[in-house]
Amino acid sequence: MKPRILVTRANFPEVLAHLAARFELEDNQGDTPFPPDELRARLADKDGALITGFDRIDAPLLAACPRLRAACNIAVGYNNMDLAACTACGVVATNTPDVLNETTADLAFALLMAAARRVTESERWLRGGHWRGWQVDQLLGQDVHHATLGIVGMGRIGQAIARRGRGFDMRILYNNRSRVAPEVERALDARRVDLLDLLRESDFVCLVLPYTPESHHLIGAHELALMKPTGVLVNVARGGIVDDAALIAALAGRRIAAAGLDVYEGEPALNRGFLALDNVALTPHIGSASRATRLAMGMTAAGNLIAALAGERPPNLLNPDVWERRRR
Ligand code: 8YV
Repeated sequence: MKPRILVTRANFPEVLAHLAARFELEDNQGDTPFPPDELRARLADKDGALITGFDRIDAPLLAACPRLRAACNIAVGYNNMDLAACTACGVVATNTPDVLNETTADLAFALLMAAARRVTESERWLRGGHWRGWQVDQLLGQDVHHATLGIVGMGRIGQAIARRGRGFDMRILYNNRSRVAPEVERALDARRVDLLDLLRESDFVCLVLPYTPESHHLIGAHELALMKPTGVLVNVARGGIVDDAALIAALAGRRIAAAGLDVYEGEPALNRGFLALDNVALTPHIGSASRATRLAMGMTAAGNLIAALAGERPPNLLNPDVWERRRR
């Protein structure tokens, strides 16, 4: 009998066909996210799951799904998965790194530039019929070129953003748990500094770090107060890293110039305070949203699931302990 899998959200026909050739597949082309109880019930008789960053895999779910052997996230971030619980239950957990680096860096830069040069605000103003002609001080923004770019989380996506910054002759600062390889630092002309210095010195602060209990509200009122009044904050990582209420207060009070956001606390719900502000560019979690990249993410996750259920080590294994334990 073929292993049984659940695909929790709609996906491209190519991805589903790839999986359907090997598994008995239950999918969700209706695309309404399963509430936790329903997810648990649907996974109770499954061997594997292809999930998104919005499906929570935790100890209560795993206890109710004794057959489950693999949970494969179609996302690089995996804050939706309790890895310790997966390991304890012998469930292989995987993500989709690398394939989305450049696409996500493109969006980060798009938000950075939109916020800096007031692009979305300008368009709303123009569409609103307010433009009476050119003026010397109309809609003045911040220069991106030759400015200082501070990147918090210098992983693969952070480095891709830094490369874009170098193309704009920006000075690159970064904050990361560990130092990146000296040759990478040299190539990007990047200097590692502590977070508070990065906030003080940067014209643009770009957040691309993982969301963990330690990074919850890493950027709150105190940190925003350290930024330059001309500073711009960009978040393409996860909601919850920024205290949204504090950011709204800082933007409304012009304590920082602008922000560009792709992720929010409690999304898809949005703190309505953002909607009243002109100095924030908002996108709905589209960091990795190009067809090629979303397809590559789906195929990568499918490849992980196929390997895991065939008893092979999946390429993007997040909990190697589970693997070592099987071998013993
Ligand atoms: C995903 C993301 O599309 O990869 C990530 O971590 O945030 C996005 O690219 C989203 O999480 C749905 O899984």
